Amino acid sequence: MYINCTDKELIILEKIAAAAKTMQVPCYLIGGFVRDKILGRNTKDMDVVCVGDGIELASKVADQFKPTPEVHFFRNFGTAQIKIDGLEIEFVGARKESYRSDSRKPEVEKGTIEDDQNRRDFTINAMAISLNKNDYGQLVDPFNGIADLEAKNIQTPLAPGITFSDDPLRMMRAIRFATQLNFTIEEKTFAAIGENAERIKIVSGERIADELNKIVLASKPSVGFDLLYKSGLLKIIFPQMVALAGAEYVDGMGHKDNFYHTLQVLDNISENTNDLWLRWAAILHDIAKPATKRFEEGHGWTFHGHEALGGKWVPKIFAQLKLPQNEKMKFVRKLVEMHLRPISLTKENITDSAIRRLLVDAGEDFEALMTLCAADITSKNKQKVQRYLNNFDMVRKRCAEVEESDHLRNWQPPITGEIIMATFNLPPSRRVGDIKTAIREAILDGIIPNEYDAAFAYMLQKAQEFGIIKS
Ligand code: CTP
Repeated sequence: MYINCTDKELIILEKIAAAAKTMQVPCYLIGGFVRDKILGRNTKDMDVVCVGDGIELASKVADQFKPTPEVHFFRNFGTAQIKIDGLEIEFVGARKESYRSDSRKPEVEKGTIEDDQNRRDFTINAMAISLNKNDYGQLVDPFNGIADLEAKNIQTPLAPGITFSDDPLRMMRAIRFATQLNFTIEEKTFAAIGENAERIKIVSGERIADELNKIVLASKPSVGFDLLYKSGLLKIIFPQMVALAGAEYVDGMGHKDNFYHTLQVLDNISENTNDLWLRWAAILHDIAKPATKRFEEGHGWTFHGHEALGGKWVPKIFAQLKLPQNEKMKFVRKLVEMHLRPISLTKENITDSAIRRLLVDAGEDFEALMTLCAADITSKNKQKVQRYLNNFDMVRKRCAEVEESDHLRNWQPPITGEIIMATFNLPPSRRVGDIKTAIREAILDGIIPNEYDAAFAYMLQKAQEFGIIKS
């Protein structure tokens, strides 16, 4: 066998080969599984292509296992899927035209294995392993994908313009593979992405989002975003991010290029978290800088309020990019809105009150916020970065101390609205809210301790001041 398989995989492959033999159809392992095995990466799904009926092959394979796995098939598309020991195996008949894993185009024309390989996206994804008796386990590689794997090169089997017009999502896939695998996109292939970029508009937003998220989750996502930018794709799918690029000068005074700053923050955060949404917060943290940019005489460039405006934009950008409109979006919004808070504390004499407010406002997202904030410290000047990081460590330490004494994480004031209403026999009203806020502020300012009795006494005092009870 040309590739290294586990014993379990070998048993499965032998059963597939036996089934194909009884049907007398040539059959091959193909695509990502072959590529990833050769690269020594973790493999997930197995793709099997046969020169015949893929659905019949899948059921013949399933029949050899006890208990017999269910065969999920799509008659129109000639594809079938079975799951064995958590491994998903997809069967398809060789096709003459473009292969897409989620193709919705029925009535595909049958073809030979060469036809099928021709219509795949990249040479490194078109390599096959024979499961046939005469050359079992051998590599079938008409486009020399193996040389491209070694050279870390991404190129299309056919002229790139043809491959990309078959399925324009492949332009994003090229960039995604380059980012994940640390490969280079061959020159003509990359130029063709630039030429065909507009065609990405015919691809569904969900498929684009899938690829984008895979780029975001790579170990160095900046590589992918830079390629998306340089190819012209980013301008089409996410123009707000492109607006961050470049620097304006007035009186010889410029500001930093916020696109490359954002990419640096994204790479920084990716060293510390694999959380997709925290990485998205890094991408979006400065998104409203272009819209808030001002040149103030004697002061230089400012971006006042970019955090609040950026936060406000998050739902719209998530909708545009077909990202979810749920608590993940709210998390990103909150982080964008709060991203300056911890760093602003390093600039002043930090009071306990300011620390308490940060802890309470960040709540359960405190650690995520601190991770974002640390990643946001970028400068060409290493000493400056170090100074900021030291100050930032100080804020962290103070937060830990205040948290230890005041237990403010996920904090709720000890006096609830219900208690206030019951004590003064009040209906839900603004006055109840005013008392509640007064208690909360008093605790955060350290005027009273974070305890029930003290808060109750303070509530009575405030009720008198507000004229709710007489002294
Ligand atoms: N394929 C293609 N064009 C596409 C999508 C897929 O030619 N737009 C082919 C490629 O041969 C690919 C195979 O279908 O290797 C399987 O597709 P998929 O599972 O989407 O990708 P993988 O290559 O397996 O990689 P990954 O699992 O990382 O997405």
